[in-house]
Amino acid sequence: MSKTATLEIDGKKHEFPLITGTENETAIDIKSLRAVTGGVTTIDPGFKNTGSCKSAITFLNGEEGILRYRGYSIEELADKADFLEVAYLLIFGDLPNQDQLDKFHADIKSKSLIDDDVKKIVDAFPKSAHPMGVLASLTSALTAFNPASVNVDSEEAMYNSVVKILGKFPVLVAWTMRKKKGLPLDYGDNTLGYVENVLKMMFKQPNEEYHLNPILVNALDKLLILHADHEQNCSTSTVRVVGSSHAGLFASLSAGISALWGPLHGGANQAVLEMLEAIKEDGGDTKKYMAKAKDKNDPFRLMGFGHRVYKNFDPRAKIIKKAADEVLNDLGVDDPILNIAKGLEQEALNDDYFVQRKLYPNVDFYSGIIYRAMGIPTEMFTVMFALGRLPGWIAQWREMRLEKEPIGRPRQVYTGENLRAFEPIENR
Ligand code: SDX
Repeated sequence: MSKTATLEIDGKKHEFPLITGTENETAIDIKSLRAVTGGVTTIDPGFKNTGSCKSAITFLNGEEGILRYRGYSIEELADKADFLEVAYLLIFGDLPNQDQLDKFHADIKSKSLIDDDVKKIVDAFPKSAHPMGVLASLTSALTAFNPASVNVDSEEAMYNSVVKILGKFPVLVAWTMRKKKGLPLDYGDNTLGYVENVLKMMFKQPNEEYHLNPILVNALDKLLILHADHEQNCSTSTVRVVGSSHAGLFASLSAGISALWGPLHGGANQAVLEMLEAIKEDGGDTKKYMAKAKDKNDPFRLMGFGHRVYKNFDPRAKIIKKAADEVLNDLGVDDPILNIAKGLEQEALNDDYFVQRKLYPNVDFYSGIIYRAMGIPTEMFTVMFALGRLPGWIAQWREMRLEKEPIGRPRQVYTGENLRAFEPIENR
């Protein structure tokens, strides 16, 4: 591969350096483009061909269906690691030894209390509020109670912010669900593991002992690992851009939560279950929904299918599909929705429209089936996605700040009116 790319504009040639990453991805470095061409820029709606940064955190190859966190395959991590270990790996770059992991967890637990006044904010929401809106608001509100988390210019201040949000976020997740169920907002139990504590905070009834089910613990741990990072997706790019103005970690995460909420992104896991439920109500008529998904005049899309990068199986979907069978079997749950999902998958994988566009099941297609079997309400599915994605957002935000990335501010091509004189209202 040559070291430069040549661009010719109006007969004048311009050379730009090519940069190559550690997995042999090549990009044209156009930092000087506007200066050397007298103002020419690029345009790339949805950034389908545009890299926003260099990153050493997550590598994915969409053609081959490869996903690695800091060089470790998602298959190995999902099978052998636990979520807090993976969080440490993503944020600090290497798998922790036992002492490092124990200290990390202890620091997180020491920061997991939330000012009781935050409960007044939770109380102010109607039970009908969508949990993602509640979670985004509460995460942003944490800044008001932790002002030191804004100007984190030292690595020590950054570390304190990181362990604070890793400690408090699961509490906010639990309070978001408990609010909808009219349950008291309480804390978990710092004698438990990170994921065990999440389950206890979410599901403990005030008048009963809570008994942990290892099947649920393992299932949630695996799901959170599979959602932990995914390079420059919509919500992560949002976290990086908001963080690039030095708005602070909690505010950047709140913006990421709002981006993830959209049904084209993390909100798809809720939309998948609603779609499968509709198909079930419709007597299992998958062909009707396949036709709707292919009809250009119908805004309906087959939720949980397709991906901006994966043009092969999403490796996470393969792992989750296998886990769905295991978890439902272990829990003794016979959910007809799973069979509808499998039938839909088989139809789509053999349909020219989907095959030609390389549309495969993505991470959201099967995850909701497991969440539902675990007793998590459908509206909470994207909140669970956010809980999994938290360490990835943190890692990407930390990398952006440590690399001293410039403020994110894209250009545009103006297509509006040319200069025109103001007309007094009596003349309009
Ligand atoms: C996530 O980016 C990430 O990494 C995200 C994520 C992560 O971990 O952060 O992996 C998580 O967001 C997974 C995606 C969840 N979203 C869905 O399941 C919603 C359904 N899928 C789509 O809306 C769509 O596939 C996207 C948004 C995921 C990707 O859209 P792109 O890359 O912008 O592709 P496109 O819209 O240009 O589609 C290309 C073609 C179009 O048809 P033509 O115009 O070429 O005829 O494929 C069609 C689309 O209409 N298409 C679909 C489809 N997805 C794409 N048609 C029907 N059903 C679908 N699901």
